[in-house]
Amino acid sequence: MAMSPRQRKFALTAHVTASVGWLGAVAVFLALAVAGVTSQDAQRVRAVYIAMEVAGWYVIVPLCFASLLTGVVSSLGTTWGLLRYYWVAVKLVITVLATGALLLHMPPISHIARAAAGPGWSGGELQGLRTQLVVQSGAAVLVLLAATALSTYKPQGRTRFGRRVLRSTP
Ligand code: HEM
Repeated sequence: MAMSPRQRKFALTAHVTASVGWLGAVAVFLALAVAGVTSQDAQRVRAVYIAMEVAGWYVIVPLCFASLLTGVVSSLGTTWGLLRYYWVAVKLVITVLATGALLLHMPPISHIARAAAGPGWSGGELQGLRTQLVVQSGAAVLVLLAATALSTYKPQGRTRFGRRVLRSTP
């Protein structure tokens, strides 16, 4: 399933845009999560969680699937392959786990956003969940930074499977 050079550039452009865009969006998420626990102003806190829900569902979730999809296309369409090189295989695992974690954490974010939009909101509710959001977005930024560095440094060479494929190709 080799891609032409044109197709490869297109897939790579889409992949880098989605993946690094995802990192940027999660950095915004972290800033909002920190503002959500540090601000004393109930209106500002309400705005933060409503913004987090919108950014989460409409930017972060789509970018994360786009990164995964374009990454798999770029892998299968080139000699990099999905499991031949450590840097690609580790990114695949990281991205699948990060996608699962994100989907698991979106319903609690929607829950906080609904509470924040309600008439009874005083700004001090759901502290435990809100602190968790800071920790989770901070961890996500670190994981995505690691994936970006793996992509550019490409350390460690081929996996055992990748070496076998190399020996069996004429
Ligand atoms: C957090 C997720 C990811 C980030 C931040 C990321 C970032 C990047 C970046 C910056 C490049 C460009 C490197 C270069 O051209 O030297 C790249 C290329 C690539 N990525 Fe990812 N990536 C991610 C996830 C994935 C996943 C899940 C896969 C596949 C399973 C994947 C497979 C690839 C492949 C094969 C290339 C090289 C494509 C080519 O040379 O045409 N990436 N990635």
